[in-house]
Formats: sequence, C-alpha cells, structure tokens
Amino acid sequence: MNICVVGSGYVGLVTATCFAEMGHSVIGVDVDAAKVDRLSKGESPLYEPGLSELLHRNIKAGRLSFTTDLPLAVSRSLFVFVAVGTPMGADGSADLKSVLSVARSVALTMSGYRVVVIKSTVPVGTCRLVAEEISGVLDGRKLEVPVPFDVVSNPEFLKEGSAVNDFMRPDRVVVGVSNPEVSEVMRELYAPFLRNGHPVIMMDVLSSELTKYASNSFLAMKISFMNKVAQICDKVGADVMSVRKGMGSDPRIGLPFLYAGVGYGGSCFPKDVQAFVRTGASIGVDMSLLEEVEKINEQQKNWAIQKIVESYPDQTALKVAIWGGAFKPETDDIRDAPSISVISELLARKVLVSLYDPEAMSGLRAVFPSGVEYCENPYDVLKDADILLLLTEWREFRNPDWDQVKSLMKGTLVLDGRNQYEASDLAVHGLSCVGVGRGCFT
Ligand code: UGA
Repeated sequence: MNICVVGSGYVGLVTATCFAEMGHSVIGVDVDAAKVDRLSKGESPLYEPGLSELLHRNIKAGRLSFTTDLPLAVSRSLFVFVAVGTPMGADGSADLKSVLSVARSVALTMSGYRVVVIKSTVPVGTCRLVAEEISGVLDGRKLEVPVPFDVVSNPEFLKEGSAVNDFMRPDRVVVGVSNPEVSEVMRELYAPFLRNGHPVIMMDVLSSELTKYASNSFLAMKISFMNKVAQICDKVGADVMSVRKGMGSDPRIGLPFLYAGVGYGGSCFPKDVQAFVRTGASIGVDMSLLEEVEKINEQQKNWAIQKIVESYPDQTALKVAIWGGAFKPETDDIRDAPSISVISELLARKVLVSLYDPEAMSGLRAVFPSGVEYCENPYDVLKDADILLLLTEWREFRNPDWDQVKSLMKGTLVLDGRNQYEASDLAVHGLSCVGVGRGCFT
C-alpha cells in the first residue's frame, strides 16, 4: 500500500520505517529540510535502538523516502498518517496548530479517496475537528471537488528506547473509526504486525482518542503513587522495593511501572497528564486526582536536592558527580527530564557538577552550555566528587567497579535515584548508599 507519514519525529519516523519494513511504499514528510536531507541519506536524527539499521535497509530497497513536499506525498498515498507534535499550549492543553494545518494541506491536495490517520496524541474530539478542517466547515471554505475521505484515530503506545520493537510487535493496536468499511482496511494494514496473536481493538473514534490519555495518565499515576509510598517508606524505615514486590504480585496491580525514582519525565507523561486535566476541566469534570499526580511528580524531582541538603547543609565547594541525564535509559531525549531541574537547582546553589550520559550529553550541553563539567566516561566524573548521584538507570551503571568509584571520590555518599543498588553491597566498599524510599534516612 502507499502510505505517507507526516512528521518525522520519533513517532512518525518509527511508523514510516516500520511500515516500509513490512513491504509498503512509504514517504516520510517533514517541514525541516535539514532533517529530511539527513534522513534521505539514511542518517537518523535521533537515537532509537534498531532504527538506523531499518532506515538504511528500506531506503536502499527503495521502499522509504523523505520529502518536505506534503502535496506530493499526499498525491501518491492512500493513507496519510499524521504524526506531528502536539506540544503543551499556554494553558496546559494540547496545541493542535500543526495537526490542523496538516489537515488543511491534505484537503487542498487530495484528488481521490484518502484515509487520514491521526497518530499524534490529541484530545478527545480532535478527529472530528480534523474532518471539519478537511471538508472546510471550519472556515466556510468548500472543497472545489468534494472528495471522500475518512479520519481514523490510531494512537501510538510506543516507548522511547524500544519504539521499533513496540511497533513491530505491539501488545495491542487501538483503532477508532466511524466508517465500518475502514476497519477492514486498518485491520489488513496491521495484520502482519500482529502475528503474535495480539489484537487490533476497534472502537469508536472518541473512545480511541480517550484511550491514549487514559493510558498515559494511569501509568503516570502508578509512578506518582509509588513515589508517595516511597516518601512514607523513608519516614518509617520501610523499603519501597519490598513493598513493590508485595503489592505488584497481585495480578490486579502488576509489577511493571511501580518503581519509585526521581520522577517521571519525557515528552509524553508531563504533557499528556496536563492535557487530560484540561480536557476534564473544559467539560466540568473534576480532575484533582491527576493534578495531584503531577504535583507529586514535581516534588519528587526535588528528591536529590533534599538528600544533598540533608547531608551537606553547607554546600560551599561541594561537587556532585551525576550518572545519567536522559529522562530514561536507551534514549538521548532530555525533554522534561528530572536531570534538568536537578542540575538547574545545583547550579543555582553554586554546587560543582560533573556529568556523564552515554547518549544525552549533546542535548544537555545545549541546555547547560557552561557550569557543568561533561566527561567522556562514568569514572572521570568522580574525581574529587563528594556525592555520586544516579539519575538514569543505563545498563552500564548497573555494576560499576565500586573500589574505583571509592578511590576517585572525595566523599562516600551515593544517591541512588533509581534504586539500582543495595546499600549493604556498597557498604563493603566503604560507600554509603541512599535510595528512594529505602528507609535509609528518617
Ligand atoms: C510513554 C508510555 O509508556 C508509552 O506507552 C506512550 O506511547 C508514550 O509515553 C507516548 O505517549 O508517546 P515514554 O515517554 O517513552 O512512553 O517513557 P516511559 O518508559 O513510559 O517512561 C516515562 C517516565 O517514567 C520515565 O522518566 C521513567 O523513568 C519513569 N518511570 C517509569 C518511573 O519513574 N517509574 C516506573 O516504574 C516507570
């Protein structure tokens, strides 16, 4: 089938590449000419495991190409996937400017039937707006030649760092349609990805749009809940890791996403929780539950600073060595990463900061061009450091040479923001480890 994917961010790029891998003819579209240039040469602008290889292979095979020319791409495609950004607007709601502008371009270009598939994360009701934009209802414009089209909601559930795998082997595909005939076309499109027996879940458009926000908000709620439990654990001397096991073994609760830490970040949870709150508020539904989720997350981003201040009330000439800056492992993404608020606060307190991250250093350099000492490996950051602070649980930080860590550091405190270490193991090496909610501090 002929597909175009508008927007070549991580969702659009993964979508385009994976459809090409399944043998479809795919055109990726982006307004950024430099990005399109790089992509056309097979260079991925972002770090996503497995993506570069698939990108190269499919470009070489002639199944995948990139362009800035949206009309050309639309004219050659039956499916128009919309995967442009929906950033947080000034009031916290999702900004639909890009989505609606793509809809308008599609309207002005399409010459025959098209299936417009909304993959961008959009508030409930957006597909209807897109349909209205395409048919010109919103501004009284009429399509010169009325062309039939369908607008489908198909939210993505890709996790950064495993997006290719998530797309190729999804646990479910959610599709919202208003025209039953389109269900079959969508089923056919996704069938090769679901040889694992996982379902395409067909529903109405509004429910599909809601599913995305409800899923992300629920996951964010699980994390904030555990971070709150961790705060209690700290006070009473309990261990949140044991509580997690005890709770999560109940299949109704489940073990995943119950890790206390330094707060959730990334381009999705913070913005989607806020947008869902705005949706509720706009229709008179009290969303204080999710407001609290967000508030707890903001508090949690301050965990490291609190521990530092408890241990070193006077931070003069203090040096903190940081392992990890990405919002999670296997990505170079630092959007809304807890590291940003932690580093900003440390610099405001005139603390010396050194940092190593396997993939996110160029992004962090752009945010903090000065004041942070960037090092090329995890041990160089430790020289004369008073504290080692783990912010992202990259695999390479899991089992370090603790004797070397101890010999390089001036102090002995390891702040484990991701509960990767056991205090008893580090004590053997003369280091004292404080995790999140592990009952070490009262
Ligand atoms: C999230 C969802 O998991 C995806 O299903 C969704 O498609 C995506 O948002 C999106 O809307 O595009 P992602 O932002 O890539 O995916 O990251 P997650 O793996 O969900 O992690 C989010 C944050 O939560 C990270 O900062 C992570 O460190 C934190 N986290 C996660 C915890 O603090 N504790 C946990 O137990 C799990």
